[in-house]
Amino acid sequence: MQEEIIQQIQDLKKQRNAVILVHNYQRQEVQSIADFTGDSLELSRKAAQTNADVIVFCGVHFMAETASILSPNKKVLLPDLQSGCPMADMITAEQLIQFKKDNPGATVVTYINSSAAVKAETDICCTSSNAINVVKSVQNDKIIFCPDRNLGSYAQKVLNKKLILWNGFCPTHMKMLPEYVALQKEVHPNAIFLVHPECCPETVALADEVLSTTGILNYVAKSDKQEFIIGTENEITFKLQREYPNKKFYPVTDLAVCPNMKKNSLDKVLNVLKEMNNEIKVPKEIADKAIVPIQRMLEVKPS
Ligand code: 13P
Ligand code: SF4
Repeated sequence: MQEEIIQQIQDLKKQRNAVILVHNYQRQEVQSIADFTGDSLELSRKAAQTNADVIVFCGVHFMAETASILSPNKKVLLPDLQSGCPMADMITAEQLIQFKKDNPGATVVTYINSSAAVKAETDICCTSSNAINVVKSVQNDKIIFCPDRNLGSYAQKVLNKKLILWNGFCPTHMKMLPEYVALQKEVHPNAIFLVHPECCPETVALADEVLSTTGILNYVAKSDKQEFIIGTENEITFKLQREYPNKKFYPVTDLAVCPNMKKNSLDKVLNVLKEMNNEIKVPKEIADKAIVPIQRMLEVKPS
């Protein structure tokens, strides 16, 4: 049955000249049909480069919006329109406009986990893998960082620079409490702790490495260590355990599941390819503004 659905997806994909981009948190079976799997930065780059006519984006709403902004002439389809990101919804364009008025002269750095309308009010975007380099690239002592206060706190700490933080957060990563990490470390004293910067500062402070989702996957690929505590959404832990069956991976907590990322399924991918519905299209007047901070981000050199 699953093989049949996968075959139908492959056939329709060819017919439509579609590419399937999949975030690292998507269900295993959805990752299995991907043309490309990655973190937010990698997926943005792919969306900008592809020659396909259609992008099926298996991720959350802001990721599909970013793809539509970068590839305005392509049809971007989101298999489940309800797959939003609660952190992205924690700031609106109106709130950011007011925050800028309250902090005149500040440069606005916005995490890619934000709506297109918020990006349109932004100077430069960042993702979890380039936030430090992006903030470093800003030639202004006064910087607003939104919406993720945890990623902002991490950048503040690394760069020893005060940022004006918006009070947003990821509900899934906030479940990875420092006491759970301490418990895992006690039980697995030889394990390396890898964390995503969306976790709270107290949890991040316990980490051996702070990395994006792909950063965590790449770190393990290169490491000769045998045991890892994984501080991000649990799909990464499962994926690592499948890829490295001789190593051991421990989630900080079984509660670390992003319900929005799990809404996409093979059936829904097949359905959007059949119907060509669930298109994510950013209005031109917003897209024309929002592309500027995204492109500025893509030009920041990795260190
Ligand atoms: P990455 O860019 O590290 O994949 O993170 C995206 C995200 O939503 C993490 O919660
Ligand atoms: Fe948003 Fe958190 Fe889910 Fe990432 S894990 S998509 S930040 S809710």
